[in-house]
Amino acid sequence: MSLRTWAWFTAKRLLADELPRRWAHTQGVARRATEIANALPREERQILVAAAWLHDIGYAEDLIDTGLHQLDGARFLRREGIPVRVCALVAHNSGAASIARLLNLSDALAAFTDERTPTRDALWYCDVTTSPDGLPISYEERFTELRSRREPEDPVIRALDLSEGERAAAVSRTEELLATALIRR
Ligand SMILES: [Fe+2]
Repeated sequence: MSLRTWAWFTAKRLLADELPRRWAHTQGVARRATEIANALPREERQILVAAAWLHDIGYAEDLIDTGLHQLDGARFLRREGIPVRVCALVAHNSGAASIARLLNLSDALAAFTDERTPTRDALWYCDVTTSPDGLPISYEERFTELRSRREPEDPVIRALDLSEGERAAAVSRTEELLATALIRR
């Protein structure tokens, strides 16, 4: 089974019945990743799409441990023997380091390296440009939506305040990459 197929199968098994809205969002993120993957070198495409399928599996009941879904998902993937880059992309997705600081989980998260590559930026981009229902959305709308359904003291919102610039930078670097790829085509 290819990595991409395993990732789809595993995300579906963990999310589809238990967390249908999260599954809808995941399908949207994976769809967006598949659409933009050609802007990346060939060897990166499967990594991006697999990480997109897997990026929110840490919300599944069976995987919850620390409560930082990125870290819980990444630890599960490491136990499953999934390539370390995919584990690390999931671990650091969408400003996880900022949330980890608030939850005193920085040391645990440090077991995974934030690679800060175009592939990592592209994963963050796909996540923040997909609504909770899996539909395309601008990242400005996504941030507004995130704030609207959580309390200001929620760690996700406090971390958002800390990481919004970093997320916006990842989005803008990916938009530049996509524009360049379109010009080349
Ligand atoms: Fe997500």
